[in-house]
Amino acid sequence: MILIKTADEIELLRKSNQLVSKTLAELAKYIQPGVSTERLDQIAEAFIRDHGAKPGFLGYQGYPKTLCTSVNSEVVHGIPSEKVVLKEGEIVSVDCGVIMNGFYGDTAFSFEVGEVSERVRSLLTTTRECLIRGVEQAVEGKRVGDIGHAVQTLAESKGYSVVREMVGHGLGHHLHEAPEVPNYGRRGIGPKLRKGMVICIEPMINMGRRQIQQEPDGWTIRAADNLPSAHFELAVAIDKGKADVLSTFEYIDEVLHKQSN
Ligand code: MF3
Ligand code: CO
Ligand code: CO
Repeated sequence: MILIKTADEIELLRKSNQLVSKTLAELAKYIQPGVSTERLDQIAEAFIRDHGAKPGFLGYQGYPKTLCTSVNSEVVHGIPSEKVVLKEGEIVSVDCGVIMNGFYGDTAFSFEVGEVSERVRSLLTTTRECLIRGVEQAVEGKRVGDIGHAVQTLAESKGYSVVREMVGHGLGHHLHEAPEVPNYGRRGIGPKLRKGMVICIEPMINMGRRQIQQEPDGWTIRAADNLPSAHFELAVAIDKGKADVLSTFEYIDEVLHKQSN
């Protein structure tokens, strides 16, 4: 069953997702060669608790950390560790969740570590654009398949591939609610989008082939061909004419643009 949220519930979901957005912007200040993903996790957990919320992933199905940090060919669900020290030219997807007032926030951004190659930068730019194309379809009266179709069309037009096994999802009192939101699909198929539905759209786009494999840690998902993979995620409320985007990358962009000036 796909739940319809009231206007008040959507405001609470906005608060949770805004906090995640601000947490990712805080992390942006620390993402550079030499930082461990464990340190990022500690910064995120402290920031979330200081703002009156709790980490949303910690303990979820036994997950041990606040963040998922997925480096280079890792697609999603990489586990932060003291042993993972970011290096110049790498990319890292940072996925963060909170729970506050009983509602989840869930947002992710793929960061460059120092300077990255033009090839890798294009993968990030395109994946972020895929997400925006998906968000443009997330309006009342369209269908879930319209979102996936928009994402897939752009990704494949650039020669990239779309991970199929993991999908976006509804968001609310639970981290993962109906409907599933695949990043591939056909126009006009799937559940109809109605005002008040809240979903996370989260394309996972591989530079090489779409196949993935799970690492022995039981969580980390990696591109089977070991080529780079990117992941961006926003939470949106379905509305008439235009999606109401509950998370934002604006705070992150502000930090990143300050750095390059
Ligand atoms: N944040 C992921 C998603 O976007 C889910 C992470 S579940 C965890 O849906 F247990 F790994 F944290
Ligand atoms: Co997420
Ligand atoms: Co999600």
